[in-house]
Amino acid sequence: MTQTFSPVPASRQADSDETFLSVRGIEKRFGAFTALESVSLDVKRGEMVCLLGPSGCGKTTLLRTIAGLERQDAGQLHAGDRDISLLPPQARDYGILFQSYALFPNLTVEDNVAYGLHAGQRKLSRQQRHARVAEMLGMVGLSGSERKYPGQLSGGQQQRVALARALAPSPSLLLLDEPLSALDAQVREHLQLEIRRLQKEFRITTLMVTHDQEEAMVMADRIAVMNRGRIEQFGTPGDIYRRPASPFVADFIGQSNWLPFTRISGSQVAVGSLQLEIQPEEEELASGRLFCRPEAVELFPAEQATNRFRARVVDRIYLGNRYRLALSAEALPGQTLLADVMGDAHERIDAMHGANGPEGIWISLPRQALQVFV
Ligand SMILES: Nc1ncnc2c1ncn2[C@@H]1O[C@H](COP(=O)(O)OP(=O)(O)OP(=O)(O)O)[C@@H](O)[C@H]1O
Ligand SMILES: [Mg+2]
Repeated sequence: MTQTFSPVPASRQADSDETFLSVRGIEKRFGAFTALESVSLDVKRGEMVCLLGPSGCGKTTLLRTIAGLERQDAGQLHAGDRDISLLPPQARDYGILFQSYALFPNLTVEDNVAYGLHAGQRKLSRQQRHARVAEMLGMVGLSGSERKYPGQLSGGQQQRVALARALAPSPSLLLLDEPLSALDAQVREHLQLEIRRLQKEFRITTLMVTHDQEEAMVMADRIAVMNRGRIEQFGTPGDIYRRPASPFVADFIGQSNWLPFTRISGSQVAVGSLQLEIQPEEEELASGRLFCRPEAVELFPAEQATNRFRARVVDRIYLGNRYRLALSAEALPGQTLLADVMGDAHERIDAMHGANGPEGIWISLPRQALQVFV
């Protein structure tokens, strides 16, 4: 298979600040069940937004509502300067791609892609259609496959054809519902980058559903994390990872440490038998949980570092580019603390005597890495 593969542009910015798709207060009920509860979301022109969340949280329902395949019970949808809230699907001007390739098995690749053009608004001559199909197949790296049937293609190739079909009429919005989840890991990673490259090259406003946090991190300019029919946080991958807005978001994205605390005063909290300093601007709860990412745990801190205490290495997992240590500390009874460290810190531990023994090593929880939640 020949690939038209080029590096993903370094820019993570949408190409303008102008909102293209505006979702306002969308509610959707199925009988007594509320699938979407007051969902609002602005997608900028040319931006790639991922809807991320666990199974059943309402991702597909939101995408189908935007596509006009479900009718909202309340709320408005705008695309560009058009109110599309009540338009039928064919008048909404989007391309859509689902998990299953949904190609017509009895049509050739060419006819499958051209099918998207029939559905489009513009009337094209046979020749123009032929040229457009060739262009689209070239774009997804499948030049020369015109005469094949879907059954003669791999899953990844079929999904490329489906993508070519969705993009052929130059829709102003691309809607993707787990388009890669049926593919094996390698093909999937490759297509993640390729879809992103095409999306950026064509500056096509894209909303993509996924339940895979890594996929969302790789592909999205911004991520909307959904839970039980609501958006819990909408931000860049970095925002969401570094400053999760809720315990749900913190746990859904990446690894977390949770330490129950009671407040002593101002910026001092008691955790186990430790007194830890937190940022004064953290919420003033009498008690709650401290959240901290494993890579924020500092090993071998300076002697005067705040929040320094001794811990013992009880387990370690090799993660390829780093190690994840499980630490236990006398001052934190019943708790295991995860710490991600790079190879050099790990070598230093390896060379030490007693890191696994009762003596242990010095670690610290830097105050700026500690976030307070209920
Ligand atoms: N047509 C329907 N009738 C009744 N309930 C529905 C219907 N469609 C969806 N639901 C319910 O709405 C909720 C959200 O479903 P949705 O398909 O949007 O979830 P999802 O986030 O896409 O999940 P997944 O990751 O499993 O695809 C689920 O509880 C589902 O059972
Ligand atoms: Mg779904």
